[in-house]
Parts: sequence; C-alpha cells; structure tokens
Amino acid sequence: MPAPDLDTIVSLAKRRGFVYPSAEIYGGFANTYDYGPLGVELKRNIRDAWWRSMTRERDDIVGIDAALISNPKVWVASGHVATFNDPLVDCKKCHQRFRLDHIEEGQYGPAQRDAAGNLLCPNDQGELTEPRLFNLMFKTQVGPVAHEDATAYLPPETAQGIFINFENVLTSTRRKLPFGIAQTRVSFRNEITPGRFIFRTLEFEQMEMEYFVMPPKDRENPAEYLALYEEWVQERLNWYINTVGISPERLRIRPHDPAELSHYSVGTSDVEYLFPWGWGELEGIACRTDFDLTQHGQLSGHPITYFDEETNTHVVPWVIEPAAGLNRTLAVTLLEAYTEEPDEKGDKRIVLKFKPNIAPVKVAVLPLSKNEKLRPAARRVYDLLRPSWMTQYDETQSIGRRYRRQDEIGTPLCVTVDFQTVGEDGQPGDDAVTIRERDSQEQTRVPIANLLQALRDKLPGC
Ligand code: GAP
Repeated sequence: MPAPDLDTIVSLAKRRGFVYPSAEIYGGFANTYDYGPLGVELKRNIRDAWWRSMTRERDDIVGIDAALISNPKVWVASGHVATFNDPLVDCKKCHQRFRLDHIEEGQYGPAQRDAAGNLLCPNDQGELTEPRLFNLMFKTQVGPVAHEDATAYLPPETAQGIFINFENVLTSTRRKLPFGIAQTRVSFRNEITPGRFIFRTLEFEQMEMEYFVMPPKDRENPAEYLALYEEWVQERLNWYINTVGISPERLRIRPHDPAELSHYSVGTSDVEYLFPWGWGELEGIACRTDFDLTQHGQLSGHPITYFDEETNTHVVPWVIEPAAGLNRTLAVTLLEAYTEEPDEKGDKRIVLKFKPNIAPVKVAVLPLSKNEKLRPAARRVYDLLRPSWMTQYDETQSIGRRYRRQDEIGTPLCVTVDFQTVGEDGQPGDDAVTIRERDSQEQTRVPIANLLQALRDKLPGC
C-alpha cells in the first residue's frame, strides 16, 4: 500500500493517543508536541530497541546519561557557539520569517524569484531581507543574576556529553579501542520551520553513539577508518529494516556533498525516508575524526588521549558517529504501519501493522461481552499477562468494535474469553481462550494453562 498522507496520520495519532499538538487549549505552540499513552509506549519501544542493539547485542559499546545543562565552554569547544547557525530572512511585506535554505530547497512550494533572480517570500511574494545568521541553541541562565557569565545552553545534540566523559568511561571500564559510548537524550534547537508534524521540533530525542577507534596512520588517506564508517552506514540501514520494520523501498542512503558537511565532519551519509513530502533525514552517520576530543583537550587545557600500549604513545582517537532521531523514527513507524483494508462487510478496516517489538500494546484481553459471568476469568487472564507484556483490558461495546479499536492502535494479539471458557447451563467450561491475530485475523483456541507460552511464540523479541 502507498504511504498514507500526513493528515491521516496526524488525525489518527491524536484520536488514539499517540501524539497531541502541545498546549492546544492556548492555541498551541509552534513545533512542539506531547506524547499520549500510546505514543510514550511506542517511543519507549523504539528507544529500547536501539539501546539493546547498541549495548546488549554488541559487547564493545557502553551507555551513559550525561547532564543536560553543563559548562558553556563545552559548546564553545564543539564549535556550536560560533557555527551552529541557520540563515534567516524576513519578508518586508508580511514580516514572516523563513530559513533561506528551506525556501531554496522548495519546502514551501516551488521557489519564486523576481526579474533580477532574487528569491521572494513564499507566502506573498514580498521582497526578502538579506539573510542573517541565527544560532539555533537555546540560551538559559544559571543562578539568580542575569549576566553574560551566567549564560548556559540547552544541548542541541547529545554527542558532547559523551566526548567530555570519554576519559571517565575509559578509566572506569578499562576499555581498549575500538569501543563506543551510547546515549539517548532530549536535545533542543530553536527551529524556524514549516510545520511537518514531529519531523522538526524545538525539543526532540536523539539516539547517538560515538565509536572511538585508533587514529589512521595517514590522516590524508584514512582507508580503514572510512571502511569502518561504511560498515556502520550499512548496519544502521539494516536496523531500520530488520528491527523497526521499515520497507527498504522507502529508505535510502544519501552521502553529503562536501559543501553540506557539518563543521566537524570529513564524511557523512544520511539514512533517509521517503516522507509524504519527499526524502527526509532519519539519521546521520558522520566521520567526526578527532575534532571533538582535540577541541575539548585544547580549550580545557586537559588533553584527552588514549594510551597505545603497542607504540607507547598517547593518541587522540578518531570517531564514527551514528546519530538518530527518535521522534522522526516514531513518525515513520506510524506512516509505515498504517494500512486500510476492506473488511468482510465491505467497510474499511484500519490496521497499524507495527512489528510486535515496536507495538505499544502487545495483547488485549476482551471478554466476549460485559456479562458478569465472564469477568472473573477475563480478569484472571489479564492479571496473568500483565507482568509479561503491555496489556489492555476492554469490555465495552461489541466484540467486533473492540477488535477494530485494537487493530487501529496496532495490538498484534487479542485474547477472547467466552462462555465456552467459563461454561454455561450447568456445563463446565474448557478453561481455554481464543487468540486472534491482528494481520491475518486468524483465531486459535488455547488452554489458559498454555497461554503464556503460546503468546511468547507469537510475540518474538517482546
Ligand atoms: N550529533 C550529530 C547530530 O546531532 P544531526 O543530523 O543534526 O546530527 C541527528 O541530528 C538526528 O536528530 C537527525 O537525523 C534527526 O533524526 C534528529 N533531529 C535533528 N534535529 C531535529 C529536530 N529539530 N526535530 C526532530 N528531530 C531532529
């Protein structure tokens, strides 16, 4: 099925409790969203899948969780104070503000120009001001008195928290190169953008890993380093396909042009997804070389090095960085999972076909009806499953409608308790339940005594 349009997803996300526009009662707030009961589970499942793939399935990566607000010199050394800028222009007529590169890229529709070739306002074709650089970092102040020395920054990436802890992790874990440090955390950027749901927001979660390796022998020709970088690019693409369940046809790798590279990178490739508005970045895999460790070593006056026992010298490791966006990945899981199918009555069945490991709710326990006789057995089944999986209990409305509701939030399995389970007309029940599968709608009868194992078999990786 082709990807649905964005409005369909935005509306389902709100209706079912995945993502809400923030502060709606006050008219909203540009580029900010809140995550509802299902959104928070979905986000947690994606984050956990990433964390598992980095820190558990490999034995060369450890995790950390660094402070959000830290010494402002961190952002001077990283280059963000001087260079983390977007070119902004204002329309002289309607006074709206835009990112010049976004107008040029056609994010507001085809770029329009006057007779002299100057770009015009995408809103009302007014004249634009000269571009001026605007730093994306949010400033705050530490302590009660507002003066320059009290300025601190909200982090625009998680990576620096890793670099400034490199030596701590090295000492406390006695790791040898190569090894990685992973972190998932919120980042902040003062983004001026056209609204595209949770694609570009003021605060967002990143899943970043810095992989430290021996510096190359020849700085100008770091062949081994670049080969390892290519391996990481492939590994990260595979993660989106195999772990998150994204169709390979809507994913691609796009190497950056030299002019596009960040100030710290000698090579970057993006994993991109074909969003309803075109290709957009999900993750960047960057060759950060020894830029960050060298910068922090110089500005702090405390060189950050690794002792190479083979050569008896201190070296500055080089770094490969896969940096993924959790919120964008979440948006993609919704776009990818959304399916419309005709049901047996010719009506539309909406199903979110999440991979089970990503699905916010794994099992729903549904008594056939609200009948009092069914409730004790249904609650017993619910209590049995809850310690193992995120489980919902629902006894309102007809069973058909409840199946639909679970399909629409992507629950892979429903367990139905009926009169055969508990017995009726003086006949004993079979103490068995029906498992109904979301995608095939197939139903299987299973004794409650075997239910945990049967569900475990049907929920791989959960
Ligand atoms: N440490 C490198 C770094 O931060 P980046 O390409 O700027 O690299 C990594 O960010 C990922 O973070 C992006 O691929 C994207 O998924 C996500 N991201 C960046 N800015 C974002 C924003 N304003 N809103 C949502 N996600 C964002």
